[in-house]
Amino acid sequence: MKNIDSRGHVRGESIYLDDIPELRGTLHGVAFDSTCAHGIIKNIDYSKAEKLAGVIKIITSKDIPGQNQIGGIFPDEELLAENEIHFWGQPILLIIAESQKIAFKARKLISITVDELPVIVDAREAKAQNKLVMPPRTFKLGEPKNKWKDCEFIFEGIANSNGQEHLYIETQGAYAVPMENDSIRLYSSTQGPTAVQRITAQVLGIPMHKIEVDVTRLGGGFGGKEDQATTWAVMAALGATLLNRPVKVSLHRMDDMRMTGKRHPYSSDYKIGLSKDLKILAYEATFYQNAGAAADLSPAIMERTLFHATNSYFVPNVEVTAYSCKTNLPPNTAFRGFGGPQGMYVIEAAIAHAAHELKISPREIQEKNLLQNGNEFPYGQIADQVEIGNTWKDAKSKFELEKLEKEVAIFNKENKHFKKGISLMPISFGISFTKTVMNHARALVHIYQDGSIGVSTGAVEMGQGVNTKMVQVAASVFSVNANKIKLETTNTTRVANTSPSAASATADLNGKALEIACNALVKRLIETASKHLGIAISDVKIQDEFVYNKNIKTEWDWKKLIETAFLDRVCLSENGHYATPIIHYNKEIEKGHPFAYHVYGTAITVVTVDCIRGRYEIDALKIVHDFGKSMNTIIDRGQVEGAAVQGIGWMTMEEIIYNAKGKLISNALSTYKIPDIYSVPKELLIEQLETQGHELAILKSKAVGEPPLMYGIGAYFAIQNAVKAFNPNYKLKFDAPFTPEKVLMGLYEKE
Ligand code: MTE
Ligand code: HPA
Ligand code: MOS
Repeated sequence: MKNIDSRGHVRGESIYLDDIPELRGTLHGVAFDSTCAHGIIKNIDYSKAEKLAGVIKIITSKDIPGQNQIGGIFPDEELLAENEIHFWGQPILLIIAESQKIAFKARKLISITVDELPVIVDAREAKAQNKLVMPPRTFKLGEPKNKWKDCEFIFEGIANSNGQEHLYIETQGAYAVPMENDSIRLYSSTQGPTAVQRITAQVLGIPMHKIEVDVTRLGGGFGGKEDQATTWAVMAALGATLLNRPVKVSLHRMDDMRMTGKRHPYSSDYKIGLSKDLKILAYEATFYQNAGAAADLSPAIMERTLFHATNSYFVPNVEVTAYSCKTNLPPNTAFRGFGGPQGMYVIEAAIAHAAHELKISPREIQEKNLLQNGNEFPYGQIADQVEIGNTWKDAKSKFELEKLEKEVAIFNKENKHFKKGISLMPISFGISFTKTVMNHARALVHIYQDGSIGVSTGAVEMGQGVNTKMVQVAASVFSVNANKIKLETTNTTRVANTSPSAASATADLNGKALEIACNALVKRLIETASKHLGIAISDVKIQDEFVYNKNIKTEWDWKKLIETAFLDRVCLSENGHYATPIIHYNKEIEKGHPFAYHVYGTAITVVTVDCIRGRYEIDALKIVHDFGKSMNTIIDRGQVEGAAVQGIGWMTMEEIIYNAKGKLISNALSTYKIPDIYSVPKELLIEQLETQGHELAILKSKAVGEPPLMYGIGAYFAIQNAVKAFNPNYKLKFDAPFTPEKVLMGLYEKE
């Protein structure tokens, strides 16, 4: 099925926040933010701004009727800084004006004096000063401390990965409209409508039922709007409440880049021990997560780093510890992979390090240690229905790995100034929110008298195609044409208490809830048909919009069936609820079964490095991916392509730079580079693994949103292999992104 949004997108008719017509009297909000990263506010002078024609009000923390608090996990983040500033770009005032232009002008008229305090931008430095978001956590399996003596080879090192800017095409924003009886309708570009509703209620000091959050779709979220869309929605609601007029907040790109958090940079220590025959006997790692100035989602992200610390490998003795370090950067947040990529990169670095010293290909180590059924993850879950070996085998045979490796070797022998590199990247990614209680969802289905159907779920469409998948689920259960089904906006009044659309689990959770609701309605309709047509219930079937009696088509079509049920006073609405079975986790002992299932895959990356200029091209990315039984191959392949390229961007060219004072230097699209059509792999092949799918996946179609991002990690190691082929003196480093500058320096590094 084609994406239900394609027509609207291509014609420019799809509605995003900025396409909502503004009501008469709408005002615009712009945040005045800090121009230093740490300090105590001494004085703010906004008298000039206040006098500017068209400025309606300057809102300070003192105007907040409820709590000045927006922290999602811990209450450690103010909406508007009251006294102390914790990062450059932290909102201090909210300017409300008749237009955004006037508000921007007013912002320039505000002056502030701050008693500056020392600034920390580095995670390890924060750890040294004991500035932590929460106590560290450790996952442990076996006893690595006792195992080192049995290891033939031991290697230790450091691996760093940098942050990543979400760069959703639609920036953060919200539009708040005051309704009667102190209620508010909030249109928000958020992945988490309920989070917006809950935090808005808290800041305004009113109950949640006074706030209706509505989301049509997002121009991308990538995790950046799981928690951090809330800030701007709350600001719009605050302005609307204080002034009793509609207020819109829509961020300028540079404001968005400066004020919002990104993927967490990590600095990590690793120690890996191997036997003579290359079995990984022991692995230790310590992760220093750069959380930024408030917790945001850092604790959950840090947890997922630990869950994925051994990637697709079975290691019998593991001890991994993570510190969430508090620095003076904007609070870092969810980003596709949610800490998983940062953990997986480190063990891949450790393997590359070992292979380099042993003068073998990393794939020899990778292959010998791939996860198998019955293996235990460091967090206690026993691996089952493992597909990693199958994807690995298929990747090798379908893409003729040995031939590729030979071609690379020949090319490198024949070329002096260009070198090729190749790598393999296996992935295993756990599906479910790591916090068990978040894994439930609801769906509301109405069948109207004329037979058309309206579907509401808690799923937010952000480009990943979940709305199309929801239509497919309903169409398949009812056995009606997809054009009979309308997918409604995501709205907290219709579907309440939702988890954010995240963790790649949106289609599974909401789809299963929808399936349950549709099945309940089908049951009623079958009873109606049975009663009126005098057919035994077990003989009634609804198929292709007709009622069947023992596989024989009756006169009754869908329309007649619905009409009759309605006249029979049968309820044609249903609310479905789904909670993932099986999963559980005990944080006290750090053991459990947190994931419904895992998604697997293997990617081969081939690159060419220009050894004069340090530039590189990704020649090919060849992937065997475990989709389960994909319910929509066009959408799912799109997810793999997009995620893989986003992963390559993170590992190669996207470089976030803060200076020592905590100011963002890569603050615009001129200084922050993401992959474009010219830098994507020249050849991008995706093969679907042959498999039966998984029962806990919706229609056996596995979650696909995040896992393929980690294929991009292979690009780092492919480039590194090319650099090694050119310069025998190159000293192995793991310091992503591998920008052309770093490549050039690596190429000409001397002993
Ligand atoms: N794809 C597009 N086009 N835009 C997005 O913002 N977000 C990703 C992924 N794919 C995203 C995307 C992230 S971070 C997640 S968690 C999943 O989609 C969320 O949707 P799902 O649960 O339906 O896969
Ligand atoms: N993934 C994504 N988002 C989340 C998670 C998770 O595991 N937990 C809480 N928010
Ligand atoms: Mo995705 S990082 O779970 O929004």
